[in-house]
Amino acid sequence: MKNLVSLSNISPKDFQGLIDKAIEIKSRKSMYTRSLFEKSLIMIFQAPSLRTRVSFEVAMTQLHGSAINYYSENSPWGLGKESMEDVARTLSQYCDVISARIYSHSELKKLAKNASVPVINMMTNDGHPCQILGDFLTIQEKLGKTKGLKIAYLGDAENNVTYSLMRACALTGNSLTIACPKNKEYSPKERVVTETKKLAKKYKNKAAVITTDPLKAAKNADVIYTDSWMSYRIPQEEKNRRLKDLKPFQVNKKVFSQAKKTAVFMHCLPAMRGHEVTEEIIDGKKSIVFPQAQNRLHIQKAILMKLLNK
Ligand code: CP
Repeated sequence: MKNLVSLSNISPKDFQGLIDKAIEIKSRKSMYTRSLFEKSLIMIFQAPSLRTRVSFEVAMTQLHGSAINYYSENSPWGLGKESMEDVARTLSQYCDVISARIYSHSELKKLAKNASVPVINMMTNDGHPCQILGDFLTIQEKLGKTKGLKIAYLGDAENNVTYSLMRACALTGNSLTIACPKNKEYSPKERVVTETKKLAKKYKNKAAVITTDPLKAAKNADVIYTDSWMSYRIPQEEKNRRLKDLKPFQVNKKVFSQAKKTAVFMHCLPAMRGHEVTEEIIDGKKSIVFPQAQNRLHIQKAILMKLLNK
């Protein structure tokens, strides 16, 4: 595993290996305190972040390495004055790992192709692999396994979290049902549907099923997952229309009544309470959103150590 650009490029063995490594690091923290001594990570941000930015920085600090935050808006690349190819070649000479949260996945691929050090996708328009790896660590801890589960995703499904979840379920053999409006604006892109069908076939698993019926998706689910209806890239003026379109896909008590009694609620955060999820669900007993957020730290350590062969 040279980079973490997309979950489609890693094997089920590497996927589970990262989760197992994170469990080990989390349980024996003192064993790993100097694992990344003198290593440096650069974090390029074009989009906002709380969890990803802080968990990566704390992970590097706790492993005795260092992290640099680099906001792209005033960078030569952000101003259209430098190619991503040259950014990759330059940063590879200073840093041991390059990570980026940029909207364009094709720019991230250019970064990975031209860097001579590992590259991590901290979120693009095509995926959020670190998030979903952390989520599967949480699933392992809370439900005792990472395969053979029924996962329901409700809401805006034309987004990076859904895409990485589709890839993860195709890799690991979990059944995923996505409930979203029929409108293309909210449904997974055809190219991702095709890609994940091929991935599922390769590993003899089932690809995600897409429906417009949220109660059907939630039926007997072990996990109910949603994401913000106002992802970072969406202009504020679209808010009212989107809230109206997505309202039937809200995760609420009625939706949860369809799921297994042991079902848990997951959300990658930030959340808009009262929109994609009701307060009583996100702040209720079934919600595991804060252990989910905490595990971002542990999985980031596992990702960094794996890519640096530690
Ligand atoms: N879930 C997630 O990636 O959070 P941030 O956008 O705050 O990093």
